[in-house]
Amino acid sequence: MKRAGIAIDGPAGAGKSTIAKKVAKKLNYIYVDTGAMYRAIAYYLVTNQIDIEKETELEKACSSIFVEIKYENDLQQVYLNGENVTPYLRTEATGNMASKSSAKAPVRAALLDLQRDMAKEFNVVMDGRDIGTNVLPDAEVKIYLTASSKERANRRYRELLEKGETADLHRIEADIMERDERDMNRAIAPLKQAGDAVFIDSSDMGIDEVVDKILSVVYEKLQ
Ligand code: DC
Repeated sequence: MKRAGIAIDGPAGAGKSTIAKKVAKKLNYIYVDTGAMYRAIAYYLVTNQIDIEKETELEKACSSIFVEIKYENDLQQVYLNGENVTPYLRTEATGNMASKSSAKAPVRAALLDLQRDMAKEFNVVMDGRDIGTNVLPDAEVKIYLTASSKERANRRYRELLEKGETADLHRIEADIMERDERDMNRAIAPLKQAGDAVFIDSSDMGIDEVVDKILSVVYEKLQ
């Protein structure tokens, strides 16, 4: 099979990372979680109390941020200015800040080349919001993976309960809808389906079913 980039875009909670990881493993590709990169910047902005609405303050902060991706035991680790921040990235606070700060031009500019360089160097399965439309417009395979906001909220709710945390289903769905609204309506690189992406609604599909569907698209396109 020839060398390729596989772009998987979609809204928060559609299962992109779980599925992209499995697809990458099957194909022996590198999995690149671009959301984690935006989360790393968000983590910096929160911990350093940067006001993202102040342009010069944000630009100054972005010029002092250095994000690196490394793979340890096949798992992506995100380093921020030399520190592995991966364990701090999945909190709701970091996710909410990432959704706001990722709309800002200096934040997106700080990550674009890093993402493109990774795709030049490796065969990648890259997930995010603007991979097929903006980061890798020439990706050989593009998938737009979504699910209803109700189903995405249910999945997140079950995940939190399994971790022993308390959760409010309505609050989670409201957060998801708010995040969709921001991600889809921002001026720069909004979330939208690329014209040549294959649409998959996973609301009534199991994880392996979605993985198999994506693999069948990959095999068909890369033959
Ligand atoms: O996929 P995630 O929830 O980890 O992403 C966190 C935020 O980062 C999300 O709200 C939007 C932003 N993001 C983005 O703007 N572009 C990407 N390619 C990936 C994520």
